Amino acid sequence: MKDLLIQNGEIITEHSQFQGDVLCREGVIIEVGANLIASPDAEIIDATGKYIFPGFIDPHVHIYLPFMGTFSKDDYVTGSKAALMGGTTTLIEMCCPSRNDDPLDAIRLWKSKAAGISSCDYTFHMGVTRFDEGTAAALRTIVHDEKIASFKVFLAYKGAFGIEDSELYQILSLAKELGVIVTAHCENADLVTETQKKLLDEGKTGPEWHEPSRPITVETEGCHHLMTFAEMTGAEVYVVHTSCIPAIEAITAAQKRGVKAWIETVAPYLVFDHTHAELPDFEGAKYVMSPPIRSKEHQDYLWQCLADGTVHTVGTDHAPFDYHTQKHMGHPDPAKCLDARSNPTGKPGNFTLIPNGIPSVEERVKLLYTEGVCKGRIDLQTLVRCASTRAAQIFGLYPRKGCIAPGSDADLVIWDPEWKGSISVSTHSMATDYSAFEGREVSGRAELVTVRGKVMVRDGQWCGETGWGEFLQREPKP
Ligand code: URP
Ligand code: ZN
Ligand code: ZN
Repeated sequence: MKDLLIQNGEIITEHSQFQGDVLCREGVIIEVGANLIASPDAEIIDATGKYIFPGFIDPHVHIYLPFMGTFSKDDYVTGSKAALMGGTTTLIEMCCPSRNDDPLDAIRLWKSKAAGISSCDYTFHMGVTRFDEGTAAALRTIVHDEKIASFKVFLAYKGAFGIEDSELYQILSLAKELGVIVTAHCENADLVTETQKKLLDEGKTGPEWHEPSRPITVETEGCHHLMTFAEMTGAEVYVVHTSCIPAIEAITAAQKRGVKAWIETVAPYLVFDHTHAELPDFEGAKYVMSPPIRSKEHQDYLWQCLADGTVHTVGTDHAPFDYHTQKHMGHPDPAKCLDARSNPTGKPGNFTLIPNGIPSVEERVKLLYTEGVCKGRIDLQTLVRCASTRAAQIFGLYPRKGCIAPGSDADLVIWDPEWKGSISVSTHSMATDYSAFEGREVSGRAELVTVRGKVMVRDGQWCGETGWGEFLQREPKP
């Protein structure tokens, strides 16, 4: 592999910003500084007027996801390409087995879905959806032999991924012993089920009822619940897709009691509000995810929390389902449930049957830059911190990932701050038949993206190699 010298860019790290060059050899950064000299055959890239960011890390994606009677639309060919086109060079995917699946079989299956076809680097959070007499041994093997250093639990989705409290206690206790962090989807499952039933009994079936079926109180209870269990077990926890003020307050209150808890929010919460799920003619289904998108005051608060460091990371919760077939499984008009296989009953759908999720892995950094940096809500250091560095630190990838320093992987994003364009399904690389961000104007783009020194995106166009991505082995904390 030829040396790569990126010259004269504005290098942005978590703490600093300076004009300089980055020299890479054999996939690793070997020098950062001014006026660096490259070997005669090195590739030289001029980054004058551009930012140089460390490769971005998305700590919460679903690529292979059997969920709500269907499967997510991307595979690793499309999902990793989309990530890279948006400047994300590392994905942390949720391995989500069903309750009846064997955990070891599951992690091997999830790995097999990525191996040989992922263009970006990747690792997994191990979803623990059951805890019985065999689970502890399986999880030890997954941590030590399969090199996975984080678990995922769902307090929601009872009957699918959801766990009981006794299981939560056992998982957190084991995680504490192993030095593994536990990521958690925090919503009270029983409150969701009961509220869904009540709304459906009242004839409230459209996507606009998704948010009222999982109100803020339900998420806040979930967060408080997890905090209580973390406090009792001493486990380190990470709350995924936090959407609202009281949920964050429940977590920060626990932090003050000594609970080691991290807070993630996701890109859709930063740009949409609850009115999107209220759009007529079933358009709202495009914006159905859980926890639901909240009102504007929560969005404003999330931005403030990013700026002051209360919220640590921004992921996407990329969960890609087609609008015309998959989201329509929940259309109240049976004739509109276009996919007959998905709706064999011929009965009308309702909001509880709309696959939850918003495809967004490609758009996260553009949205953070446009809505955050350009609007003065966050600075460039915060962008790097919440979309790259902090995730690497929390999940055992630092300093290999998440920083621009000698010895780190040469995962780099040359960002053109002057570029202007708009988002569209017609130009995105994700596999879904719609973009939730259709027509949205954005500033800045990933002009050139490298993964371990290999250029994958050039002039904003794909030039990558399918299968270049590697599985990232991680070790638990001592
Ligand atoms: O709506 C969501 N969040 N879909 C994906 C599954 C999950 O809860 O992360
Ligand atoms: Zn979730
Ligand atoms: Zn998720």
